[in-house]
Amino acid sequence: MARLSVEFSTLALRNPIFSASGTFGHGLEMQHIVPPTLLGGLVSKTVTLKPRPGNPLPRICETEAGFLNSIGLENRGVEAYRRDVLPAMARAGTCVITNIGGEKVEDFEELARILDGEDAIHAFEVNLSCPNVQEGKLPFATDPKMAARVIERVRAATRKPVLAKLSPNVSRLSDLAIAVEAGGAHGITAVNTVLGMKIDWRTRAPGLFTVQGGYSGMAIKPIALRCAWECARSVKIPVMGCGGITCAADVLEFLVAGCSAVQVGTASFSDPATLARLPGELDALLESAGISDVRELIGSLRIPRLPSPSEKVAPAPANTARGPREGVDAANALGGAASS
Ligand code: SIN
Repeated sequence: MARLSVEFSTLALRNPIFSASGTFGHGLEMQHIVPPTLLGGLVSKTVTLKPRPGNPLPRICETEAGFLNSIGLENRGVEAYRRDVLPAMARAGTCVITNIGGEKVEDFEELARILDGEDAIHAFEVNLSCPNVQEGKLPFATDPKMAARVIERVRAATRKPVLAKLSPNVSRLSDLAIAVEAGGAHGITAVNTVLGMKIDWRTRAPGLFTVQGGYSGMAIKPIALRCAWECARSVKIPVMGCGGITCAADVLEFLVAGCSAVQVGTASFSDPATLARLPGELDALLESAGISDVRELIGSLRIPRLPSPSEKVAPAPANTARGPREGVDAANALGGAASS
């Protein structure tokens, strides 16, 4: 499927599709369903310096659309990852990105230093944005200076490409994107989960022990797409889109928004074979659209603009559509909101 190959920083990828951190084990646990060689790459579950038991249960709960998690970065620590996981990852036959997390700037640096010599790892994804530790305060994902500092320190500790995983839970994501680029990031992952919560009003109990957690699934796709676009238009480094992707058309929307690759996460919980199907579906969709190289679409968003006074405006064709879009189209034609 030559039409699917892309580059992400210095990484040459067979296609733009990755598993998202924390949704797919370290990647090989699912190889009986999703052979890694079908994918552009795998992103590991977050690895921390010391083992972490994670947050108390319940730490996953379903909502009307998508689910909430507050796992709390449960993992067995970097030494177990090196000893038990990486030898097999070296035979994955695809790009391996190790996601690293920490509570202090020094933790990230130390992890990059420890893992820098591991040939099985092609790049690091720095998890600046886990909402389920430090009481959801997101210290690294909300303060551009802190985010840049973490990236600088990781860069100093490794020669591998470094991606910064950002949070949607900020008001000006472009400030964070610009900061991590200045800190030396080779790329950005946009975005982690959206802060959310659930309540059972009968028992008055929250759905999660930690009350709030990270919301994911197809409902967050419009938020994630906007975040990815905001990052892509603010920086020169490549962006990996993440959030609510379930089908090939979703992948292409993120590419048109400016992403060079994407990650698929929560969709694998409802159908673990999603990632196995996506590359073929993407290829077929491009073929049906007469597109021979997926890279043509990257950053190809056509931003609407008002005609300049010197441009003659042709009258809009009459809208003959039937169905639920009718009201939206009519309202747009009148320049108003569909619901007003
Ligand atoms: C978690 O382990 O709590 C989720 C990881 C993340 O959202 O970064």
